[in-house]
Amino acid sequence: MGVARGFHEVLRFGDTTGPSKVARYASLSKVKNLMNPLIIVGKGSLERQKVDCLVLPIEQDQFETDPALERLSRAVGGELKALARQAEFNGRADQVFECTSLGRLPQKRIILVGIGSDSGKTLNESRVRNFAANAIRQSANAGAARVALALPASVSGDSIRAIAEGVTLGAYRFDKYVTSGKGPKRKLDTVLLCGIARETTAVKRAIAEGQEVGRAIGRSRDAVNEPSNVMTPAVFARQAGEIARKYKLRLKVLDARGIDRAGMALVAAVGRGSRNEPRFVHLTYSPKARPKKRIVLLGKGLTFDSGGLCIKPAAGMDDMKSDMAGAAAVLGTMQAIAVLKPAVEVHGLFVLAENMPDGNAYRPGDVFRSLDGKTVEIINTDAEGRLALADGLAYARKLKPDLIVDVATLTGASMVALGKTCSAFFTAHEAWATRFKLAADSAGESFWQMPLLSDLRDQLKSDIADLKHTGDRYGGAITAALFLKEFVGETPWLHCDVAGPVLADRPRQFYPKGATGHPALTLIRFIEALG
Ligand code: BES
Ligand code: MN
Ligand code: ZN
Repeated sequence: MGVARGFHEVLRFGDTTGPSKVARYASLSKVKNLMNPLIIVGKGSLERQKVDCLVLPIEQDQFETDPALERLSRAVGGELKALARQAEFNGRADQVFECTSLGRLPQKRIILVGIGSDSGKTLNESRVRNFAANAIRQSANAGAARVALALPASVSGDSIRAIAEGVTLGAYRFDKYVTSGKGPKRKLDTVLLCGIARETTAVKRAIAEGQEVGRAIGRSRDAVNEPSNVMTPAVFARQAGEIARKYKLRLKVLDARGIDRAGMALVAAVGRGSRNEPRFVHLTYSPKARPKKRIVLLGKGLTFDSGGLCIKPAAGMDDMKSDMAGAAAVLGTMQAIAVLKPAVEVHGLFVLAENMPDGNAYRPGDVFRSLDGKTVEIINTDAEGRLALADGLAYARKLKPDLIVDVATLTGASMVALGKTCSAFFTAHEAWATRFKLAADSAGESFWQMPLLSDLRDQLKSDIADLKHTGDRYGGAITAALFLKEFVGETPWLHCDVAGPVLADRPRQFYPKGATGHPALTLIRFIEALG
């Protein structure tokens, strides 16, 4: 099926929950947005690599003294450095300079990528990942098929995996709906890593793992980039099923009736205004060895959030197709974990629904009994995420995990607090906070801990039920977190409000424009470190 035909089918069949052609179109086998270059170790000196693009990492302010750059520049007659100097290239992180070799080298183009300075807080691993992603993004945009990356001198085991992650993540694009052939002329097919002494089994393994992680995060990005008329709760659940089969994870799916019978009345309430009925999905990864920890990951999966009867303004509403980015990140994480096989038992839970205004939609003033037993008075139907998550948390608790991590595009207030590129996390367990922050730093993803201020708890008091689900405007990210806290009991819990960073306005570090896959890499690193 060609792209064009598939697209027309989307329009013709609309969005149904049955096994429609639309659903099949969005199934894994048809989703081919990732370029998948072969990544191998380059042999011989840098200057000899026969490639379309040769990419050099340059440390901040090492531009004048970098020996590899000096050699290359001399080979083209000195112009390379002169041109870069003129463009004020100095190696600042994410700075890119590209020029032709004028046919004086076996490489058509030379690209310089700034990697910042060592003194920065970001770890080595995340600097090389960003270097590789920037290098590949630039090369792919230049239409390169073969690319050589000069690796920084210090590169070792973990960093090689990070480079392969960066290559795969930098090669990502989502162009399945573009019929005009705007994409690159040539497809990236080989990436040579230069500067690794020997292609040992450990090196090959690090490369293979990095590619698998990159592909898994590509899966998260695809799910978010996919429009809501295709990515319905049923389609998301079906993709989770395909991943379960392919990667041998245990799978449980509840449809709308199953959700009612299980007592998840809040998920049902959020989803009842849409013809695309809600789903609840539970994936399980069990290691062969005795698990060192049991972790539950819970993702907010609102495949579209119109606000419901408390409808959102039109401006920016299109971004609400990304309101399932928490669930998407958990899905990609489960895929990666199934490949990496850490000694940790991991449960992936997904609350999937669409929030729509409708004759049957839930209303402000309604009261529902949650899975937990607590009754909730609905105040604003646009605060739907915390409702769906409340039932998910009550379900998660029954699994008796060491920790529940929920991931949700929960509040605009978190973006007011931290901007569009940093996520908030909340936990009452400082030991878990430390471990989580460490994982985020090694992933190069931006997170900041916010407080569970008990003073704000009073805002959630209801006159007619156990709880109301929203407070006033100020501290909105905190009152949302405090509402969730009511449903975790004594189980250690960490809440991520990722409303900002799941989408990017422009490519930056290893994130492309559009869906970033945030915070899948953090979750993967976090779980691996426990195993
Ligand atoms: N999905 C939104 C939060 C959001 C907003 C994510 C913008 C990304 C970008 C969430 O369901 C929502 O609408 N939250 C409301 C809560 C309010 C009604 C208490 C919000 O933040 O305005
Ligand atoms: Mn909402
Ligand atoms: Zn929402």
